[in-house]
Amino acid sequence: MKFHIEVYGCQMNVYDARRIADLLVESGFEKANDASEADILIFYTCNIRERAVQKLFSNIGILRNDKTKVIAVGGCVSQAEGRSIFEHKHIDISFGAQAYHRLPEHINEVLSGSKKKILDINFDQAQKFGCLPGRTNVSFSEFVTIQEGCDNFCTYCVVPYTRGREYSRPARDIINEVKELLSNGAKEITLIGQNVNSYHGEAPYINIGEPKGTWRLERLIREIAELDGLKRLRYTTSHPKDFTTELMQIHAETPVLAPFAHIPVQSGNDRILKAMNRGHTAQEYLDKLARFREICPNIQFSSDFIVGFPTESEEEFLDTVKLAELVKYTISYSFKYSRRKNTPADKMQGQISEEEKERRLAILQKTLIEGQVYHNNALIGKTQEVLFERRGRKPNQYIGKNVYLQSVIVESSENLIGEFRNVYIEQAGENSVMGKIVK
Ligand code: 5AD
Ligand code: SF4
Repeated sequence: MKFHIEVYGCQMNVYDARRIADLLVESGFEKANDASEADILIFYTCNIRERAVQKLFSNIGILRNDKTKVIAVGGCVSQAEGRSIFEHKHIDISFGAQAYHRLPEHINEVLSGSKKKILDINFDQAQKFGCLPGRTNVSFSEFVTIQEGCDNFCTYCVVPYTRGREYSRPARDIINEVKELLSNGAKEITLIGQNVNSYHGEAPYINIGEPKGTWRLERLIREIAELDGLKRLRYTTSHPKDFTTELMQIHAETPVLAPFAHIPVQSGNDRILKAMNRGHTAQEYLDKLARFREICPNIQFSSDFIVGFPTESEEEFLDTVKLAELVKYTISYSFKYSRRKNTPADKMQGQISEEEKERRLAILQKTLIEGQVYHNNALIGKTQEVLFERRGRKPNQYIGKNVYLQSVIVESSENLIGEFRNVYIEQAGENSVMGKIVK
C-alpha cells in the first residue's frame, strides 16, 4: 500500500508531515512517487488564514483518482472543523495535529472495513511525541519541534484552539532528536514552535539555581549549539514580549547560531496591538530591537504583519508602515486580516472591507520590499556563507540561503545541493542576490 502526503501551511506542518511519513513507513506502508500512484492520500492542512476548507475540498477533487482507497485529512483544519469535514463524502479519516501518531491504525481500520468516517482530534501532545519512531530519512536542513500550541490568545488567531495549549517537549527528547538528525547528515537545524521564547521543558538533569527542573529556550540553545556536526542553528517563531536579553547575548557569543531573528510585530499602532492582545506597545518592540542591535551588531530581523484588523483606521495602518520603514526588515511576511471562526476579533464591529485590506497590503508590501532591497544591495561586494537547497530555473543554477535567509543564486557545474559554500555577491535583485563561489 502506497501513500502520498500533500502539505499546506507553516514549517510545523512540514515537520509533522515528515514524521507522519516516517511513521507510515515504519508501519509497513510505502511512499508513493506522486499522488497518481498512491492508495492512500493524506492532506495535511493549516487553517490560519483564508478559505482552508474550500481549498482542501478542491485539492481532494484534483488529486483523487481510480487508485485512491483511503483519504485522510489532518492538521489544524481537522481540529477546527470537527465532524463537519465529512460533508465531503470521500473523506474517510480526519485527524488533529496532536493525534497523528494513531494514523496507521486508522488507515488499517478503513482498509479492513471495520470503521468508517474516523474523527480523531484528541489533544494530548506528550502522548504523540512518545509514539513516534526515530528520524532516519534525514535532509541537510531539518526542523525540530520544541514547543507546540499557544497560550497567548491573540484575538485574531486560531492556533490556541487548533494546536492546543502550550506544551514544551522535554529537553532530553529534543537533544536526542537533534543528535540523531546530525548523525544522519543534517547540517542546519531550525528549532520550531508557535512561541519558542516561552519554551519551558523538563530539564535532562537537575541544575542548581534553575527553577523547578525546567530549561528555558536559552539553556536549550546553549546545549544544542555545542553538538558535533551542527553547522547552523535557527529558531522560530518568537514573541516580542518573551524575548530576553540573555538570548540576545547568546546570539553575540554563539557563532553557530544564525544572527537572525523572526520577531513578528503584526502592527505598529498601540491601540491595534492592544485590540490584538499582543501584550506590548510599538515602542517596547522597537526598544527591544535596538537593544538587540547594541548587544549583537550583526543581527537582522524578519517579521509578520497583519493589515486591516477590525476597526484599524488609515492613520493606525500608517503607523505600521512607519515602523516597517524604521526597522528595515531583511524579510517580511504580510497578510490581510482573515476572519477566523470563534476568535474574539471575528465578533468585533468595524470589519474592514476586502478591497481596503488589499489596498493597505499593497502599500505595506511596497515598503517591506524597499527594506528587502536595501539589505540585498548591502551584500554586494561581500562574501556570504550559503547552504544550497535547490536547483534554479537555468541549467547549472543553484539557489541557497545565507545566515539571514536571503536567497543566493550561483552557477556551478558541481551539484551543490546540501553543501555550504562561500559566495562573493556581485548583483542584487528584489528577492535574491547573485554571486560566484570563492574558496
Ligand atoms: N489573519 C491574518 N493573518 C493571521 N496570522 C495569524 N492569524 C491571522 C489571521 N486571522 C498571521 C500572523 C502570524 C502568522 C503566522 O500568521 O501574522 O504571525
Ligand atoms: Fe497565534 Fe498569537 Fe499564539 Fe502567535 S502568539 S500562535 S499569533 S495566538
